[in-house]
Order: sequence, then structure tokens, then C-alpha cells
Amino acid sequence: MHTLLHIVATPREDQSRTLQVSREFVSALQAKHTKLRIDTLNVFTESLPDLTVQRIAGKSMLMAGKELSKPLEEPWKPIECHIQRFISADMYLLSSPMWNFSIPYRLKQYLDVIIQPRYLFRYGLNGPEGLVRGKKMLVIASRGGDYSPESPIHSYDFQEPYLRTVFGFIGITDVQFICIQPVDARGPEVASQRIADAKKKAVSIAENWQP
Ligand SMILES: Cc1cc2nc3c(=O)[nH]c(=O)nc-3n(C[C@H](O)[C@H](O)[C@H](O)COP(=O)(O)O)c2cc1C
Repeated sequence: MHTLLHIVATPREDQSRTLQVSREFVSALQAKHTKLRIDTLNVFTESLPDLTVQRIAGKSMLMAGKELSKPLEEPWKPIECHIQRFISADMYLLSSPMWNFSIPYRLKQYLDVIIQPRYLFRYGLNGPEGLVRGKKMLVIASRGGDYSPESPIHSYDFQEPYLRTVFGFIGITDVQFICIQPVDARGPEVASQRIADAKKKAVSIAENWQP
């Protein structure tokens, strides 16, 4: 049985425009792949460990190619749990609004927790090497404004380039984006239209998605 890890990075639940489109994608995918398991991880409600001095010391040990020392094993358990959950998925859906031109802080915390040497990447003779291979991702991203290539504020978009870089770094290079925009700046009619367009795109991606 395949598992899709759905990482939810908005706290707005039923009010979320991002999740309206994600729900459409998930239903279309489940209709086609009835045995697909969906693991939903909401970074706003999930307990995420803080990166304390001790945990950062563990990261440095792994970076230096050493084993975690005994006193670090316990504090590292919640990090390892999140890493395990992430790598046990076969594919990923990330639902994230743009916050201040980039990603919501709880999503950044989640990434800081899971992106650890030896688990998700390593340094080889040719530099960094991602260890999450052969897995694909769909990012559903909503924005209050419009950052499309034709927009004068296209260069303000640090969300898509950041997510492509950070997931590419750990080996996930097959990443598609559905950007829902603008959902605030041009009023409710334009927003509804853009959400409807995004839902159509989501269904079409789901229909062609091979787990
Ligand atoms: C803290 C915060 C920061 C935001 N920053 C931006 C921004 O930089 N650019 C933008 O276009 N919209 C921004 N927005 C608007 C959201 O991206 C937009 O409303 C999005 O659709 C919300 O998604 P949701 O309905 O799924 O929660 C921000 C919203 C919040 C709450």
C-alpha cells in the first residue's frame, strides 16, 4: 500500500483556500487509487521539537560523520520520529500559503527538524547528495497577491524557489506547483475564479498521478 504524506502548513482549516484545492486533489487521487493511505501532518497542530543547543550538537556530530553520543539519544528521539514519518511516505502533497513572501514559520521549523545529515542528505566527494530518491511532490500554494512570471512582483516570490531548492537538496526533484493567486488582492470574484481554475488543475494532476 502506498502512502501520501500531506503536509498542511496553514492553521485555517475550513477557512483555508489552499486546503479547498488540496481536498479536491486528494479526493480525485483516492477515487483512482482506492488503497492509497493518506497521512496528514499539520505543522500547526503537530508537536515539533525545538532545536535546542543539545539537538544542534547532535546535528554537528552527524555532520562530522560521528555517532550521536549517549546523552543526545533521548533528545533526538522526536527528531527521528518525524524523519521516519517523512521518509516512510512514498509521495508528498504540501499545502502552504505564502507568508511574507516565503513559507509559514511552522513549516520552516518542520524542515529544520527533518533535514538532517545521514538521514535526508550526506556530503560525498561531489558535494551534497540528497537521500530521498524516486519520490514526487505536489505543492499547492496560495498567495494573497499575484507573483506569476508576468507580474511586476514576480521576483518577490521566495516561496517556490525556496521549496524547490530545499526539497531538491534532499533529493526530491520531481516537484509540481499549483499556485493559487491572487486570492486577496483583487477581490472575491477573482479569488473564486482562481480557486476554481486551481481545482481543475489539481484534478487533472491527480488523474495522471502514478503512485
Ligand atoms: C502572516 C501572513 C503573511 C502573509 N504574507 C503574504 C505575502 O507575503 N504575500 C501574499 O501575497 N500574501 C500573503 N498573505 C496572504 C496569504 O498568502 C493568503 O491569504 C493565503 O491564501 C492564505 O492561505 P489559506 O487560506 O490556505 O490559509 C499572508 C497571510 C498571513 C496570515
